[in-house]
Amino acid sequence: MADLTGKTFGQYQLIEPISSGGMATVYKAYQPGLDRVVAIKILPEFLLGQAGFLERFKIEAQAIAKLDHPHILPVYDYGEAERTPYLVMKYVPGGTLKDLMAKGPIDPRQAATLLRQMAEALQHAHDQGIVHRDVKPSNVLLQDGRWVQLMDFGLAKMMTSTSNITASGTGVGTPDYMSPEQAQGLPVDQRTDIYSLGVVLYQMLTGDVPFHAETPMAVMLKHIVEAPPPLRTQHPDISPEIEQVVLQALAKNRDDRYAHAVDFAAAYEAALDPAATLSTAQTPSLSTLPVTPAIDQRRGPWPIVAGIALVLIAAIAVVALVLSTRSNSAPSTVQLGANLLDDFSEAQIAPALWQYKGTFTATLNSPAIAIQNGRVTYTIKNEGDEYYDGGLRHEATKPFKLIAARVSLIDATSNGSDVGLEVNGLDAEPDAWAYLAMAPSDGTVYAYVGHTRSDSAEQTYTLLQGTGLPATHEFAIGWDGTQITFYVDGQARKSLPTTQVGQWVRLLFDVDPNANVSGSFDDVRITYAKQ
Ligand SMILES: Nc1ncnc2c1ncn2[C@@H]1O[C@H](COP(=O)(O)OP(=O)(O)OP(=O)(O)O)[C@@H](O)[C@H]1O
Ligand SMILES: [Mg+2]
Repeated sequence: MADLTGKTFGQYQLIEPISSGGMATVYKAYQPGLDRVVAIKILPEFLLGQAGFLERFKIEAQAIAKLDHPHILPVYDYGEAERTPYLVMKYVPGGTLKDLMAKGPIDPRQAATLLRQMAEALQHAHDQGIVHRDVKPSNVLLQDGRWVQLMDFGLAKMMTSTSNITASGTGVGTPDYMSPEQAQGLPVDQRTDIYSLGVVLYQMLTGDVPFHAETPMAVMLKHIVEAPPPLRTQHPDISPEIEQVVLQALAKNRDDRYAHAVDFAAAYEAALDPAATLSTAQTPSLSTLPVTPAIDQRRGPWPIVAGIALVLIAAIAVVALVLSTRSNSAPSTVQLGANLLDDFSEAQIAPALWQYKGTFTATLNSPAIAIQNGRVTYTIKNEGDEYYDGGLRHEATKPFKLIAARVSLIDATSNGSDVGLEVNGLDAEPDAWAYLAMAPSDGTVYAYVGHTRSDSAEQTYTLLQGTGLPATHEFAIGWDGTQITFYVDGQARKSLPTTQVGQWVRLLFDVDPNANVSGSFDDVRITYAKQ
C-alpha cells in the first residue's frame, strides 16, 4: 500500500506508518479535536467491494468498542475515507509479544503474568459473546514489556465473508495459531481462542510454535491432525504438569480444552508452582488427553480434502473416547498466580494482616472482605473519630517489580479518604513510601510520595482528574531498579528516582472518621524481580 503519511482520514492526520501486517497498515496519527496521538489501522481497499463488508465492519466495530477491559486495547472510532475502511485505536508504544519473543523463550513465571492478562482479556470478551479469532503474539501489545493490551478483536470476522479459508488457502491471519476447527472452516466459539492462546503459551515456553510446514495449508493440516511435539523434548526443564496444561489447551477436540480462558491461566499457575497455589482447578491426567492420529511425514502433504475427511472420522472416534473423561474444572475459590502474593489467601485475611495507625474504632465487616478469583471486595465503615489507615499488607520477601490491580471505588461518604496501592521502603528507608490512590470525592487519581529525601519529601501529584463515583482505574506501581513509576490505565504517568523499594506492599484504604468506602480490587498481582 502507498505511503499515506500526511493524509487525513476523517479527522485523523497520519503521522507515520508504524508497521504493516499481513492485511493492513497501521499508522501513528494525530486527532486534533482531543489533542492526542492514536493508532489508525487502514484496511485494504478491496474489502469495500466484498458483499456485506460495510455492514459487518460496522456491527463488529460497535461490538468491539463496547469491550471495556484494562487488557483490551480500546477502539475509539471507525470509518471510511478515500474508499478505504479504517479503525482508530489507542496508541501504545512498546512493541508486541512477538517482538519480545524474538529474543527467545520467556521465563515461565513471566509467561504466567502475560498469560493471565491475555486470559482475562479474552474472558471478558467471551463473557460478552465475542470471540477474538486471531489470538497471536503480534496482536498482544506490551506496554513496558509487561502490561498486556490485546488488540484486533473480531477483525478476522470483519475481513471474512463466509469462510476462514480463502481460495489461496492462506485465510485471515497466520495459520500458526489457528485452531483445528478454524482450519477446517467450521463455526468457532471461545474455545478457538483458548487453543490459539495455548499455541502462544507453547511458543512463550519453547521459543517456537508447534507446527511448521512449507505452505499455510500444510500448517493448518497439522493443527487438524498432528500431535504437538512434546515440549519437554525441546526443553527438559519444563515440568510434566506444565506440559499437560499446554497440551490440554491444544486439544484437537474443543470439548477437551479448558472451557474458560481464565481456567487455562489458573491451571498453568497451579502447574507452575503447585505448592504455592490454592487453586482447586482440576486437570485430567495426560492419559486422558485425546490421542491424535499420527501422520506419516514421509509421504509429504496429503490432499487436503482426504486429510480433513480422515480427521473428521478420527475426531468422532476421539470424542467418543474422551467423553467420559472430560475435564470438569471446579471454580476455584482462590486463583492466585504463582507469582502473585499467596498471603492474600482466604485463610490469612485475619486482623493480623490489617495494619492500623493510631487509635480508632472501625467496623471491619469481614464477610464483605473476600478474595475470589484474585478479587478483593471491601466495605469499610469507620465508626470511630480517628482517621483509619488500613490495608491488606504483604511483606515482600524479595525485591518486587510491580504491584497492579484494578481499583474500583463504588461508594464513599467522605472526601478525605483514599483507596489504592502502596509500597514502602523507598531508598531502603522503611518510613519512606509511595502510593497511588483515588479520592472518593470524584475519583481523582493522585500519587503521594512521603520520602525522606529532601528534594522530594511529601509530594502529591495529580495524575488524572476524576469525574465522579463510581470510578475504576487500573493502577500499577513498578520499580525497574532505578526508578519507581506510577501507571494509571496502562500509561506511565509519573516516575521518580529510587534506588530501592519495598519491605511491604499493600492494598490501601484510608478512611475518614465516621465515613464509609466500598468497592473492589480486581486482578491483584505482584511480580517479583528474579534473583
Ligand atoms: N494501537 C497500536 N499501537 C502501537 N502499535 C501498534 C498498534 N496497533 C498495531 N501496532 C503495531 O503494528 C503492527 C502490525 O499490526 P497489524 O495488526 O496490522 O499486523 P499483524 O497483527 O502483525 O498481522 P495481521 O495483519 O495478520 O493482524 C503490530 O504488530 C504492532 O507492532
Ligand atoms: Mg494484528
